[in-house]
Amino acid sequence: MRVVGLILLAVVVLIGAATGYFFLHYPNVAGPSQLAIDRTTDRLLRGGYLVNNVMGCRGCHSQPVADAFAGPPVPETQFGGGRAFHQGHGVPGVVYSRNITQGALREWTDGELLRAITAGVSKDGRALFPVMPYADYGTLERDDLYSVIAYLRTIPTVKNVPPPNQLDFPVNLLVRTLPHDAQFVQRPPSKEAIAYGKYMVTAAGCGHCHTRMDAQGNPVGVPFAGGREFNEPGQYLVRSANITPDNETGIGKWTREQFIARFRSNTEEDHRKMKVAPGEPNTVMPWWEFSGMTEFDLGTIYDYLRSIQPSRNAVEKFAAAR
Ligand code: HEC
Ligand code: HEC
Repeated sequence: MRVVGLILLAVVVLIGAATGYFFLHYPNVAGPSQLAIDRTTDRLLRGGYLVNNVMGCRGCHSQPVADAFAGPPVPETQFGGGRAFHQGHGVPGVVYSRNITQGALREWTDGELLRAITAGVSKDGRALFPVMPYADYGTLERDDLYSVIAYLRTIPTVKNVPPPNQLDFPVNLLVRTLPHDAQFVQRPPSKEAIAYGKYMVTAAGCGHCHTRMDAQGNPVGVPFAGGREFNEPGQYLVRSANITPDNETGIGKWTREQFIARFRSNTEEDHRKMKVAPGEPNTVMPWWEFSGMTEFDLGTIYDYLRSIQPSRNAVEKFAAAR
């Protein structure tokens, strides 16, 4: 009996130590840096462009107009958070985007914001679930992120407190292992079209949506070959398109002009008027957002996508919601 008791005690102590280590060690990310970002005119312009038309912040951190094509944001909800990401988006549970308007961020330092956006750790040390592509944001240029943060400080307050997240076991624990310190790079010069286009693709999270993922949010498909599924119960089911340069199943036959025109033909306002009934095909691709990207940036994105390996993958984009 004594021996069994001792063994049991040892097991309990070991489990306790392992659990303690796990909670103390993860998220394994450096503390927030000491920063005071100048709100220069250049920063606000660049930040506004990235936040509103490139990096997806506005779409994810607002409520979408549910009956409009591609779900442009309801103006009064912009950046107020509370958009739900659930099983239908590959999240094991439900995660709500947070309020990132001025009022909600008043207590946050610039360093804490930089860490949340690029390493996935909140002000209070909580690991963020990677609905937001923070690992991608962590490989951008530091100065672009400073511009994003400078701009966030100017967004009018929206009063909204999103509900707490509910992640299923064991992801609610494993999520703590996902954050990593950012590895900032230099933005390539714009004359290096392919490298610059690749940088813009990372900033815009194209690969995040256009690559199949497993239930933990890890990419498992061929990058950019599409097929990631988004199911909005009662509304629509859409799968991301193959945007590798395959002739039959990708964008192999698209010209540069067609590609740019596909993005710029309908403005954000146009999208608000493009009504879609429940059950009709709709999409999560933020066409309204990217319609405000410059022709130059879209052109380099095309150049980069044309430079990657073509991959044959026929995707049936639209299906009935489950
Ligand atoms: C694909 C959707 C998506 C995109 C794009 C996105 N976010 Fe998020 N963001 C979220 C979700 C969801 C959370 C909450 C995650 C969690 O609680 O685990 C979040 C969390 C945050 C947080 C942490 C807030 C807190 O209270 O902990 C900040 C800050 C933030 N986002 C800012 C941004 C900025 C700035 C951008 C654009 C550069 C952006 N987000 C782009 C979905 C997104
Ligand atoms: C939030 C997820 C999401 C993001 C971010 C996203 N896409 Fe998409 N994209 C989709 C989905 C879903 C579709 C399929 C439905 C549709 O056509 O809208 C799609 C369709 C497309 C199409 C149409 C292809 C065709 O065959 O008609 C192109 C081109 C495209 N995306 C390129 C991009 C590029 C380039 C980026 C980054 C600048 C990007 N996407 C970012 C989800 C996304």
